[in-house]
Amino acid sequence: MREKISQLIDSSQSGQYRWCPVADLPELHEVALTAILASAATAIQKRGQFHLVLAGGDTPRAIYKRLRTTQNDWSAWHIYFSDERCLPPTDPRRNSVMAGEAWLDYVEIPPDQLYIIPGELGADLAAWEYAQTLNTIGVFDLTLLGLGEDGHTASLFPGHEWGIELDSPDTLAVLDAPKPPPQRVSLSAARLNRSRQVMFLVSGESKRDAVARWRAGENIPARAIAAEDGVDILVESALLKNL
Ligand code: 6PG
Repeated sequence: MREKISQLIDSSQSGQYRWCPVADLPELHEVALTAILASAATAIQKRGQFHLVLAGGDTPRAIYKRLRTTQNDWSAWHIYFSDERCLPPTDPRRNSVMAGEAWLDYVEIPPDQLYIIPGELGADLAAWEYAQTLNTIGVFDLTLLGLGEDGHTASLFPGHEWGIELDSPDTLAVLDAPKPPPQRVSLSAARLNRSRQVMFLVSGESKRDAVARWRAGENIPARAIAAEDGVDILVESALLKNL
C-alpha cells in the first residue's frame, strides 16, 4: 500500500495526514482498491483476519464494485460500517444496501462477518446494539471514510457530538443530522481512531471548501480522525489547486 500511495504523497507534508492527490476519479478508485487489497493481504498474513470499516455515501460505490470481481480469501474478511442511516433494512439510501448491491451480495464473506448497523431500530437502540457488537472487536485494520461538504465524516457533523475522548462510547445516536436522513448511527471518532490505517476518499467539486478548511487547520469533524499509522487522504488534485 505504502509504495503505491508513496508515489502520490505530497512530500511537503508531515504529521498524521498524508494528502495523496490523484488525477481523477478512475485513479482514486484504482489507488483505493490497491490500498484495500494490500491492507487485507498484510492483515491476513499477520493475523489471519481483515477487519474493514466501510464508508457510506456515493464515492465508495465504484470501489466496492471493483472489489466484487477481485479474488480474495473472503472467509477472512470482517466488514463493519462507519455509520448508517436510520431507514428500513432494504431502503436504497442505506449505506449497507449500497455496499450490498455494489459488492457484498456478490462475494462469499460469511454472513456472521458482515456487521450491519441495525438502523431500522432507530438511532438510540441501534447505537446501543452496535456498541454491543463492537465490544468483542479490537483494532480495525483499515477504516474507509468520506468527507462531507461541511467537513463531516461518517455521521460526525459540525456542532454535534464527535466522541473524541478516549472514554467515549463506541457508537453515537444522531437525531438531527443536517444531511438527511436526520436519524443516524455513527461510530465515534474515538472508535474510528482505533484503526491501524484510515483512508479518506475525497472527490467532487463540492468538497473543495471542506478540503481547504481541513488543510487550513480548521476544526472540522474530519480533523478528529487519527490512526496508528497516520491518515491517508486520497483527493482529486483539482481540489488542492489555489489553496
Ligand atoms: C453518509 C456517509 C457520509 C459520506 C459523506 C460523503 O452516510 O452520508 O457516511 O459521511 O461519506 O457525506 O458522501 P459522498 O461520498 O456521497 O460525497
